[in-house]
Amino acid sequence: MFMQKTWRDVGSLYQIYPRSFQDTNGDGVGDLNGITDRLGYLSWLGIESIWISPFFTSPMTDFGYDVANYRDVDPSYGTLDDLKRLLESAHDYGIKVMIDLVPCHTSEEHPWFIESRSSRDNPKRNYYVWRDPKADGSAPNNWRSLAAGRSWTYDETTGQYYLHSFLPTQPDLNWDNPEVREEIKNVVRFWYDLGVDGLRVDAIWGISKDPDLADDPVNPDYHHDLDQYGSYIHNKCKYGPKFDQYLRELASVSDEYHDKQIVFEFYPDEQLGNVYDQYERVLNIHPSSSAFFMEYRQNIWHADHVKNTVLEYLARTKNTTIPFFGLGNHDQPRIASRLGNERSRALNFLNLLTPGISLIYYGDEIGMENGELADEQIQDTFSPSNTKFDSRDLERTPMQWDSGEHAGFSNATTWLPVHSNREWCNVLDQSQNEQSLLYMHRSLLKIRSAYPVLRNGTLRAVYVGSGYVLAFESRLDDTYAYIVVNFADQPQEIYLPEPSRLVLSSRMQTVERDHPNTLGGYEARLYMNSLVHIRRSAAK
Ligand code: GLC
Repeated sequence: MFMQKTWRDVGSLYQIYPRSFQDTNGDGVGDLNGITDRLGYLSWLGIESIWISPFFTSPMTDFGYDVANYRDVDPSYGTLDDLKRLLESAHDYGIKVMIDLVPCHTSEEHPWFIESRSSRDNPKRNYYVWRDPKADGSAPNNWRSLAAGRSWTYDETTGQYYLHSFLPTQPDLNWDNPEVREEIKNVVRFWYDLGVDGLRVDAIWGISKDPDLADDPVNPDYHHDLDQYGSYIHNKCKYGPKFDQYLRELASVSDEYHDKQIVFEFYPDEQLGNVYDQYERVLNIHPSSSAFFMEYRQNIWHADHVKNTVLEYLARTKNTTIPFFGLGNHDQPRIASRLGNERSRALNFLNLLTPGISLIYYGDEIGMENGELADEQIQDTFSPSNTKFDSRDLERTPMQWDSGEHAGFSNATTWLPVHSNREWCNVLDQSQNEQSLLYMHRSLLKIRSAYPVLRNGTLRAVYVGSGYVLAFESRLDDTYAYIVVNFADQPQEIYLPEPSRLVLSSRMQTVERDHPNTLGGYEARLYMNSLVHIRRSAAK
């Protein structure tokens, strides 16, 4: 039996896309029992909490982000009993479990929507946002859906339009209706009562909208046609006047329980003002909530840029909110494909050593790359072009456990093709190679968990002699650590401000004695003060 940490001491969160993690019933689609079977691996790796993307009953037009029953498991993923077993087993390993809450829209197949669309005077009509057409029959305003096209779909039965910020199969819930707010809070209570430890909360920006549903202003800096999402400034369809209030109300459900954590999906919008002011607003909604830092999705391969974004975000947590740093998720191209192996290895190193909770997207610990898909294999109907270029399927291909035909994920044809690089990019091979990316993750996670300075220390930037090197110093009581990353492909000399010993290099090999101050191209290192005696073997 492992010890249960509180969220304040948890160092890592591993995101599982359940469709793609482990299939146990031979249908080519992952399932909850598959996750339970792999908890031993996650424990070996040193993972302290997991976030499971939606597994609820769903017609899967957005692979579970279109929920038809908030309180049950989709049969393709298993049963509620399977989920209970998963929870029990995760807790036995000392792993906390976060699930995905999708509060702002349901599936069109949710009973609430089926009722709501049945007649204008149905009691559930006001659970969703319905409006009359304009005099010429067109949509009530110019809002665009993130999933391409308009945010409004006309419904013949009652002669009105309904609002959907995403696909037409995902009607927006009307959070201005207090009954809706109560329904969703009860969903949260249902899962908390079952033993779930926290929630990742999906797509919060639309929880409150302009009360008059006014048009979004046209974006003067965008010169494409007005059918495009980017041609508008989204200050009417997003972040309405009740945004903070509704999120706070939702997060306050945690107050009825012990140690529940919420983390909001959040991407600041540059068009809507200072990015860090936006972070600050969302990071400080409620003491039990936080917001993901996802700035690495931008092209920021620059030491100063990374330094500034990390420190700015941290400052906005005001030392009270738990920071959540991540490199990727199921909506972003894989970090290994974005940056290449060497650079992404260095950034993974940094990500595992920044304070708070480090998010690891499944497969990133072995360097999984964007999938190889032909256009006709695309499953995600979300992409504006419906081609492999902007499909999120690329980052959702099956987990590569071994080099076999189906990568150890399944024994049948898989829902998305497995990557051909499974030959070398797989858990089995990397778990036998102490210089692998997987071993680097494992070593850093163990060190992180053993030394609170890496989880709870105060971070500041220091200059170590080269503008290409990002160097953070972290301090807690009498312990300190230096995390250094070389953003150049050429070696750099570094001089640390205080005596310290090398704990680990991203290269996972002994540093040459002749040049102890030379950081190799794209190399990252962790040093700590001599009070701490860690040898590499301690990390095994
Ligand atoms: C979030 C999810 C994404 C989903 C969308 C609609 O952005 O991460 O996968 O498609 O919300 O629910």
